Amino acid sequence: MVILGIESSCDECAAAVVEDGKRVLSNVVATQIPFHAAYDGVVPEIASRMHTEWIYSVVEESLHQAGLGPGDIEGVAATAHPGLLGSLLVGLSFAKAFAWARNVPFIAVDHMLAHLYASRLSDEAPDYPFLGLLVSGGHSIICRVDNFDAVTVLGATIDDAVGEAFDKVSKHYGFGYPGGVAIDTLAQTGNPLAFRFPLPNLHKGEHRYDLSYSGLKTAVINQLEQFRVPERGETAILPAVKPEDIAASFQKTAVAILLRSLFRAAEDTGLTTIVAGGGVAANSCLRSRLAERQDLRCIFPPLDLCGDNGAMIAGLGYPYLIRGDRSPLNVVASARVRAFKRNYP
Ligand SMILES: Nc1ncnc2c1ncn2[C@@H]1O[C@H](COP(=O)(O)OP(=O)(O)OP(=O)(O)O)[C@@H](O)[C@H]1O
Ligand SMILES: [Mg+2]
Repeated sequence: MVILGIESSCDECAAAVVEDGKRVLSNVVATQIPFHAAYDGVVPEIASRMHTEWIYSVVEESLHQAGLGPGDIEGVAATAHPGLLGSLLVGLSFAKAFAWARNVPFIAVDHMLAHLYASRLSDEAPDYPFLGLLVSGGHSIICRVDNFDAVTVLGATIDDAVGEAFDKVSKHYGFGYPGGVAIDTLAQTGNPLAFRFPLPNLHKGEHRYDLSYSGLKTAVINQLEQFRVPERGETAILPAVKPEDIAASFQKTAVAILLRSLFRAAEDTGLTTIVAGGGVAANSCLRSRLAERQDLRCIFPPLDLCGDNGAMIAGLGYPYLIRGDRSPLNVVASARVRAFKRNYP
């Protein structure tokens, strides 16, 4: 089954064609990053307007790169939640119109389930159940995954998402946008032990697997106040302070917060396979720390499928469509995750 997947939940306008939920025939991602960089964050109005301008060309290009025409598409999948409402509506409405015009089945999918599906598009497809680690710009979730659509949240951030912490720290220090890649790159040559930042005190009762990033974010940003050289502008810092050291120390702590809860969940559930997804799954420190654990099998999507893309949407659409699931053409978009609820075991 050849499925067209459309993704427009945030600042990537993306479409892809995937065969049988596995073989990526094309994967076109038109990023709006340069247009939001001046604001150090995604501006919703700009994002939805750009999706409207780009979506037709992006879909057309995805068909072209797959060597197919509209008549070859046997099903359409699109992100319906979570995300920016105005942006979601563009891709979702385009997908519905395509499916209606071609008279092919349509399925609306959840973006976070799609991040979890992304690693199945590469060679490794682990059996269920496994532990999921969803780490992105808007979410940080540790979950038990029993099927492509059966997720139980074990822990989640109680404040900021980990990707958001990378972005905010980077913004304050002027490291670049988006912050994850900028910090990861700087950290390669920094000393992770140069600064000591706090870990949140979350390890009891219902918060056993939870995460928190606002304390770390505040500590790293407050550290900046001690380095500022006001006469040299907002982001100028003392020459003796190496940005690489700040980046490496922050990144080390951010990853330690994730792993502390993840390893606790692995120990308690006995699940030894971990599947990561979302933009932060591209982080080199996270990947190398998990690779050190010989007793756990850790699976990451390829780097180009960690961030938002249409291939993960088309991929996830496949198990729904072959099961016979269909979404009505009046299905609504939603800013929040709809596919699973927080549900403590
Ligand atoms: N190498 C990296 N290290 C750490 N963070 C990274 C890296 N690459 C990207 N990121 C972060 O990933 C986030 C983007 O991921 P993604 O596109 O999945 O988020 P989103 O779609 O905006 O949010 P969500 O998926 O929760 O709706 C950004 O916060 C970015 O800084
Ligand atoms: Mg995402």
